[in-house]
Amino acid sequence: MNAVGNTFPSRVSFENVSKTYTGAQGDVKVVDDVSFSLGEGDFVSLIGPSGCGKTTMLQMLAGFVKPDNGMVTLNGQPVQGPDSDRGVIFQEYGVFPWLTVEKNIAFGLTLRRNAKPEAERKEIVAHYVKLMHLNGFEKAYPKHLSGGMRQRLALARAYAVNPNILLMDEPFGALDAQTRLALQLQLMEVLTKERKTVLLITHSVEEAIFLSTRILMISARPSRILRVIDVPFTYPRTPELTATPDFQRLRLELEEMSMEQYAQQQRLAAESR
Ligand SMILES: Nc1ncnc2c1ncn2[C@@H]1O[C@H](COP(=O)(O)OP(=O)(O)OP(=O)(O)O)[C@@H](O)[C@H]1O
Ligand SMILES: [Mg+2]
Repeated sequence: MNAVGNTFPSRVSFENVSKTYTGAQGDVKVVDDVSFSLGEGDFVSLIGPSGCGKTTMLQMLAGFVKPDNGMVTLNGQPVQGPDSDRGVIFQEYGVFPWLTVEKNIAFGLTLRRNAKPEAERKEIVAHYVKLMHLNGFEKAYPKHLSGGMRQRLALARAYAVNPNILLMDEPFGALDAQTRLALQLQLMEVLTKERKTVLLITHSVEEAIFLSTRILMISARPSRILRVIDVPFTYPRTPELTATPDFQRLRLELEEMSMEQYAQQQRLAAESR
């Protein structure tokens, strides 16, 4: 068992969770007896090679995928399905192609659970349009946006409903370095104002260290927790932190570890061809 403790009362808990997919190539075990928990205010990042099962884990917490064994719980109750208490930012831009920018942002605010009067909705939409630098594109459809703009729209849509838990699947992946940093800083600012619990998937060790309270290093498929790192830096964090020797040392150590797993995953992929 891969057990991970923490100091907060647990909001989210994976208890001995396993998942196998059955596909054209037979059964593929993607998650293997994973246990960890996230307390309120935790920011946990998952780092692991492509195809190891990270998105599958996030989708179990989002309520889109059910574990075969074990349980994913939220405030002590098993996750039954998706709900607006968990805002999901999908790996491939969680935007609706048939809705304009402003309607995408307002979408969650029109659902019954979060329904807001029109005036308030407009205010929230205007706020996020500005925050994500989408001004002038309010009436545009996603296909007319750049990749980075679509990603910012996905962030706006998730933030707009103000969920307690943010599930972010490589949310900054498609962005240029500058925008990426700006949005990382903005996320940290949002988190200092509103205490949220975050599960982030990233391939960037640097991003994980910069943002997280804790990092889970995930193995090649099937996903197991190899190591848990309590990030030793206090908040607020500024970009200068990334240049410090302590940060660099941790980065190198984790990059080496993740490279081994990436290589292992590539061997696995080659074998199954
Ligand atoms: N619905 C599904 N049906 C069958 N197999 C699936 C399904 N979803 C994912 N898989 C397989 O499960 C494995 C893990 O997929 P997952 O998307 O969780 O990986 P990941 O760690 O998020 O990878 P990446 O870093 O590339 O996003 C992959 O081999 C994938 O092909
Ligand atoms: Mg993924």
